[in-house]
Amino acid sequence: MEISANTQALVYLVSAILFIFALKGLTHPSTARRGNYYGMAGMALAVGATLLGNEVQSYGFIIAGVVAGAVIGTLLASRVQMTAMPQLVAALHSFVGMAAVLVALGTYMNKAQAGLLNPVLMGELSAGIVIGAITFSGSVIAFGKLQGLISGAPVVFKGQHMLNAGLAVATIALAIVFGLTENVWALVLMTLLAFVLGFTLIIPIGGADMPVIISMLNSYSGWAAAATGFTLENNLLIIVGALVGFSGAILSFIMCRAMNRSIINVVFGGFGGASEAGPSAVAQAAEKGVKAASVEDAIYWMEDANRVIVIPGYGMAVAQAQHALKELLELLEARGVEVKFAIHPVAGRMPGHMNVLLAEADIPYDHVFEMDEINPEFATTDVALVVGANDVTNPAAKTDPSSPIYGMPILDVAKAHNVYVIKRSMRPGYSGVENLLYYQDNCSLIFGDAKDVCEGMVTVLKGGGH
Ligand code: TAP
Repeated sequence: MEISANTQALVYLVSAILFIFALKGLTHPSTARRGNYYGMAGMALAVGATLLGNEVQSYGFIIAGVVAGAVIGTLLASRVQMTAMPQLVAALHSFVGMAAVLVALGTYMNKAQAGLLNPVLMGELSAGIVIGAITFSGSVIAFGKLQGLISGAPVVFKGQHMLNAGLAVATIALAIVFGLTENVWALVLMTLLAFVLGFTLIIPIGGADMPVIISMLNSYSGWAAAATGFTLENNLLIIVGALVGFSGAILSFIMCRAMNRSIINVVFGGFGGASEAGPSAVAQAAEKGVKAASVEDAIYWMEDANRVIVIPGYGMAVAQAQHALKELLELLEARGVEVKFAIHPVAGRMPGHMNVLLAEADIPYDHVFEMDEINPEFATTDVALVVGANDVTNPAAKTDPSSPIYGMPILDVAKAHNVYVIKRSMRPGYSGVENLLYYQDNCSLIFGDAKDVCEGMVTVLKGGGH
């Protein structure tokens, strides 16, 4: 069966609308599942209409590619831990980047052979190759950093910005030479330089800036796909590429705002390492020591509290403590305690990480609050229970100008009457910065795995409390 170009265009239009509904659905946890279904339906239609179109000349390679891709994709997706999701996303972006490079190179060879090259096409090819190559090598580095294969710390050296600027100018110059002369060596050099540029752009970024970079690379992968769409004269690919390109860029801006950092600063930064300051507020606070508490101590204050705010973080995801937290919520509410959950925009390791896990445990959405909404309530809260969160609660972001996270908005946990922090050790969080909260008089640490501690709390409460 073959469908006409008109039918194909109509199906592409329906897919494009479904993709827009998908993005809309993904803006809220309660509609995210529906959004995913729209996206899946849109993609199924798009792939179907492409395969049935008249451009396809033989199905052998396509079927082999689809089967191999489906097997690898299914295995990867079903095995990946929630906490390793950012790496998986980085790896997938690298595939998009490489696909854009290969499609552009293949198109160049076909069109050159047929004598059909023209300046507009050459421009599209260059854009696809350059953006695709940067996306590929940048994503490979991001994957390596997040997976711990290479150091996650920023690699900063003198003359870095000059090197990047030089590489960018040389790449663009080669693209122009290629466009004007069709010279194959200009194409080869341009491609190689773009791969190197992706590498040198991402190595200086590390630590807490990685989520923004993943989102930026997501945006790049969209632009690479859009450029491929122009090359292949495929309207749907152009639309979808632009949707991904813009949504990735918007998400990057939102995350930068959440961290009070400028996007320029992140993209060209070298941020995310340990504090460079000498003896600072951290060192002074360290001398005061840290208080350790037991599960019973925390329950003593929580069971009679008017309000408890739970602050989930990456550690909750590692420990999978969300189900125990749901039970804790129910037990506390049965005792008349108001329980709320406070979500920082970059808590965990990916946007919406905490929301997804709390939703998985059926914690009602009306108990879950964004940072700006909940911050004014900490000062009148009896107990703040920090479950594996660290950086997002660090008052150094407000009080210590020498701290690398200075200026990042945080949850005002420090203002609660009593703060209990569940963590396993004195190790710092993702940014490598020590948390001043732990040295405050109103703060105690309950050392242990978040799930074990929360289950311990449930047991104590079920046993009649303290
Ligand atoms: P972090 O600052 O990374 O702190 C996680 C805390 O969880 C640590 O204190 C760790 O201490 C504890 N922990 C780990 N495993 C645990 C377990 N099994 N049981 C109990 N505690 C455990 O997390 P956060 O506060 O959620 O902040 C997120 C950080 O990640 C920010 O710096 C953010 O910029 C960055 N980041 C965010 C994203 C996105 S988009 N959300 C993506 C990448 C990076 P112990 O080891 O002592 O237990």
